[in-house]
Amino acid sequence: MRKQIAAANWKMNLTLHQGEKLLKDITGAGLQLKPNHQAIFAVPFPYLIMAKNAVSKTANMEIAAQNCYSKKSGAYTGEVSAEMLQSINIEYCVVGHSERREYFNETNSILAEKVNLCLQNNITPIFCCGEPLEVREAGNQNQYVKVQLEESLYHLDKEQIQKIVIAYEPIWAIGTGKTATTAQAQEIHQYIRTVLADKYGRDCANEISILYGGSVKATNAKEIFEAEDVDGGLVGGASLVADDFIQIIQALKS
Ligand code: 13P
Repeated sequence: MRKQIAAANWKMNLTLHQGEKLLKDITGAGLQLKPNHQAIFAVPFPYLIMAKNAVSKTANMEIAAQNCYSKKSGAYTGEVSAEMLQSINIEYCVVGHSERREYFNETNSILAEKVNLCLQNNITPIFCCGEPLEVREAGNQNQYVKVQLEESLYHLDKEQIQKIVIAYEPIWAIGTGKTATTAQAQEIHQYIRTVLADKYGRDCANEISILYGGSVKATNAKEIFEAEDVDGGLVGGASLVADDFIQIIQALKS
């Protein structure tokens, strides 16, 4: 049974103290996550070890990095490698967030390198895809997302692709308060699963968690997560407020 995941993406927010308090409030809330449920916190690099310790006693809560570099090691001042993340036991890494694609010029082929390095280091990539507004308005979102998947993931074999979590995040819905409707989310998630099934087989595609991201809130999470092919969410703003993110975790379907 594929995992249902509530993933927090703190982005470049919170001080160490604020981050500690947020995790304390969430881990202290007495949530009993079901075996196929998972809460993941993608925190800034300097907080990874703190966060790892903060969730260590709570079942089914994990920590993710928000990025890693596309080279194995070497003279790349300021960058962080997948191997470094593995050395502090980080199990997930967000790869290809639209903000990284836009502000740091990350291309599909660079992201393929990052995916490879994560897998080589036993880190599950949370691979982000999603179209800008003009592509959605032209009705070309399916083709746009298909190319992102093809160019960054299709070199993987069946065993490797099953280790990927996909996050569909339409750029026009990120931080805008404009959420995709449940029908829009289901339509493209189903399409993504069909594309994966065409390449890797239906059984394989059915095991891959596909998260929705873009203005997920405590008030709309349940409705969006109910959709058959939506396996939880990748949440920005609402993940910075303990009570809101707790409700989002509770909105995961069984
Ligand atoms: P918001 O939830 O703030 O729209 O951000 C979504 C996102 O980019 C998560 O990665």
